Amino acid sequence: MDWGMKNRLSRLMPNGGKAVWLAIDHGYFLGPISKLEDPAKTIKPLIQYTDALMLTRGVLRNCIDAAIDMPFLLRVSGGNSIAGPALSNETIHTSMEEALRLNASAVAFSIYVGTEHENQTLSCLGRLVNEGQRFGMPVLAVTAVGKELEKRDARYLSLCCRIAAELGAQAVKTYYCDDFEKVVNSCPVPIVVAGGPKLATPMDALHLAQKSMHAGARGVDMGRNIWQSDDAVGMIRAIRSIVHDGSSVKEAAKLLKKG
Ligand code: R5P
Repeated sequence: MDWGMKNRLSRLMPNGGKAVWLAIDHGYFLGPISKLEDPAKTIKPLIQYTDALMLTRGVLRNCIDAAIDMPFLLRVSGGNSIAGPALSNETIHTSMEEALRLNASAVAFSIYVGTEHENQTLSCLGRLVNEGQRFGMPVLAVTAVGKELEKRDARYLSLCCRIAAELGAQAVKTYYCDDFEKVVNSCPVPIVVAGGPKLATPMDALHLAQKSMHAGARGVDMGRNIWQSDDAVGMIRAIRSIVHDGSSVKEAAKLLKKG
C-alpha cells in the first residue's frame, strides 16, 4: 500500500486502528430525516468525540466549516431514494476528482449483493477501487440491505463483506449480527459496524458496539443511534469509551445522563 493510502487510513483509524465515525450521509436517499434536518447543528456537540465524519459533498460544502481538522469519508454513491422503486439502484454520482478536490480521506460506496442491481453496484465498486489505487484514495464498501433489514445474518453479510474485500475495498462497513465473528474472520480487511435504525434503548446500542468490538470489528460508523438519541453526547462518549478504551457496557453507561 502506498504512503498516501496508508496515511489516509491511519487518520481515519487512529489509536491502533480503532474508529468512531459519525455517519450523517442519510439524506442522500432519505432526505431530511429526524434530528438531521440541520446537519451542522446536529454534529456541533458531537464533533469533539468523533474520529471522522461520513457525509456527502452537498452537506460537506454547505454545512461544514472548511477549517475543521477532521478526516471525512465521502459518500460517492446515490441515484436512489426512499420514494423510488428500488433502493438498490445506486451508481457513482461523485467523481474521484471531486473527492480529491474536497480532500476526502476515503470514498464510500454501497453494494447490494443478491439484488437486481448486484452487478451494477459491484462493477461500480471495482471501478472506484481502480481509481482509488491510482490516486491513493481508500474505498469503504457499505454492505447495504435497503428496506430488507431481516437480511442481516452472518451468512449473507459474510458473503457481502468477502466480495467487497475481494473486489479491493480497503475497508467494509456492515451490520452486526449473531455469529459476527464469522463475518469478521472471513473478511481480510477492517470492518466497521453501522448502527441501523434507532434501537429500543441506548443500552441496546452500547451492547451492539461492545459485541461488535469483541467479535473483531475495528469500530463503528454510527448515525441514528447517536444523533437521534435524547442524550446524543452521552451516547457518543459511551460508544467511544467502548471502542477506544475497551470499556464494558456497564462502565460506558455511566457516561449517559441516566447512567
Ligand atoms: C445509510 O444511510 C448510511 O450508509 C449510513 O451511513 C449508515 O447506515 C450508518 O448509519 P446508521 O448507524 O444510522 O445506520
